Amino acid sequence: MNTLSQEKINEIRNSVNIVDVISSYIPLTPRGKNYFGVCPFHDDNNPSMSVSPSRQIYKCFSCGATGTVFKFIMDYENISFLEAVKKVAEIGGVSVNIGKISKKKTHTELHQIYDLSLKFYINNLNTQNGKEAREYLKSRKINDDIIKEFQIGLSLKHNTLSQILTKKFKPDEVLKSGLVGKNDRGYYDLFYDRIMFPLYDLDGNPVAYSGRIYNKQDNSKYFNTRETEIFKKGELIYNYHRAKEIARRKNQVIVMEGFMDVIRAYTIDIKNVIAMMGTAVTDTQAHLIKRMAKDIILCFDGDEAGAKATMSCSNELIKLGVTPKIVRLEDNLDPDEYIQKYGKEAFQRKIDNPISVMDFKLSYLKTDKDLTSPTDQAKYISEIITELNKIDDDILKDLTIKKVCTEMNIDEDLIKKHLENKPKPKPKKVQIEIKTDKYDKAESALIYYMLKSPEVITMYNNKVTYIPNKEYRLLAREISSFYKNFGFINEADFIDYIECDEDLMNTITKINKQNTKENYTLEEIEDYIKVIRDYNVKEEIKRLTNKMKTLTDPLDKAKIAEEIVGLKKGV
Ligand code: CTP
Ligand code: MN
Repeated sequence: MNTLSQEKINEIRNSVNIVDVISSYIPLTPRGKNYFGVCPFHDDNNPSMSVSPSRQIYKCFSCGATGTVFKFIMDYENISFLEAVKKVAEIGGVSVNIGKISKKKTHTELHQIYDLSLKFYINNLNTQNGKEAREYLKSRKINDDIIKEFQIGLSLKHNTLSQILTKKFKPDEVLKSGLVGKNDRGYYDLFYDRIMFPLYDLDGNPVAYSGRIYNKQDNSKYFNTRETEIFKKGELIYNYHRAKEIARRKNQVIVMEGFMDVIRAYTIDIKNVIAMMGTAVTDTQAHLIKRMAKDIILCFDGDEAGAKATMSCSNELIKLGVTPKIVRLEDNLDPDEYIQKYGKEAFQRKIDNPISVMDFKLSYLKTDKDLTSPTDQAKYISEIITELNKIDDDILKDLTIKKVCTEMNIDEDLIKKHLENKPKPKPKKVQIEIKTDKYDKAESALIYYMLKSPEVITMYNNKVTYIPNKEYRLLAREISSFYKNFGFINEADFIDYIECDEDLMNTITKINKQNTKENYTLEEIEDYIKVIRDYNVKEEIKRLTNKMKTLTDPLDKAKIAEEIVGLKKGV
């Protein structure tokens, strides 16, 4: 819980109009009483998100996302409730002293272990034993400012981190960190004699390392921390927390392959850069990239592996309806090498003149083919058609068709025919798993109307003793207690009251997705309550029947049988 009062939070929310704030993120168009836009929280091209100026909430009819202005900013910018409140306060000009904002995730013992290890490694680099490593960094033109900014450190040949950590923290926890191992002689460091590049989570906490060799030949250039509770490779993006803000301001983000490339880009003052750390882009990462900026430029290594990575990363983004632009570097160079060889201006020119993703694909698909052979020609054209069917951008599609047809000297209709045959792939909708038996329906509808009307809350208070589904039960209790405390109910206030609690919000989202009718009749509410009661009775009968089976005394049995008959009458 935070130190802000409910009143202050309301004041901040009321200082802005949700329509203005959301339209600074996504275009909204007025229709009737509400405003509509394309929901940024699922893959969609239709304007299924409605923003209500009267209720000051938004709601997506497709994926069910809902909330107040705070929730929108939290999810869009991936920040905590308090950070979102602070932002809105700034927009609305409300002065508020939130102080140091606590991170969304709690700082666990593992985080503390990492904080300490970071200090330890950074210190090593500055000692006598770090001389060779410092020279290596210097030879790679990584200066002290960069070392400081990226918190580069060093693990020594004979390390003592394992001793320090196991003395200060629970050894079991230390073993979970991926920094320390244990054998019959005791604890030992897993990283030794490597330059340590910390990897951060989305909030900027160090949660892992990539250790690079610097003074010997070794098969494994980089050794990375294994996945832990706080380090999930597929969910992180290197430099995300530093690049986020500036990428948004520029509305452009540059995606690279390795963190050394990002670090190099910083040396020439290009800071809207992130790296994928050499792995294939996951769906989670693609979503994060999509939200960082409108212009997405992929600038991977110039070699064949880099081209392949460009291909797969593009496709991951295209699946989300994003069309990235592509920069390819000559002579198999990676951005780090390119910048060092050709300098800042040359690299900036590359970034300013990216090619379209389809132009990239045209040349990529050509690489392993002999286009004088009819077999390869046919293969090439059919592969292009497959790629064309993936993209939504009609203009780009048309331009590409023209290009291919001129190049291959074929008729445009030939390609268009194939495009028409294939239905345009619909973007995948986020499907929320919904059980829709009648009990689930009744519970969810009851709560849906509780959020709208004190009358329904009172009926719930008087007539419902127990909601079977746990998440619904918890939500209903919160609504009821909100009403008890404040004497009114209003979705926007309630959502802020629960501070966008993730579990409760998910439940609200689910309920909003299942129910759309604005009005209810008292008969309907009575009916929902009856369905819930019937369910409870049925469960009680089941319980009693089972209990009866375990009993041997005929009198006891008869007593329970009587109870069951009584219950059955009520159903
Ligand atoms: N990588 C890795 N293990 C390796 C090689 C690479 O984890 N053995 C990851 C690293 O995260 C690295 C990324 O893949 O940042 C890109 O690899 P590569 O292009 O080989 O690294 P460079 O950025 O060129 O590193 P350097 O210039 O230091 O050689
Ligand atoms: Mn390199």
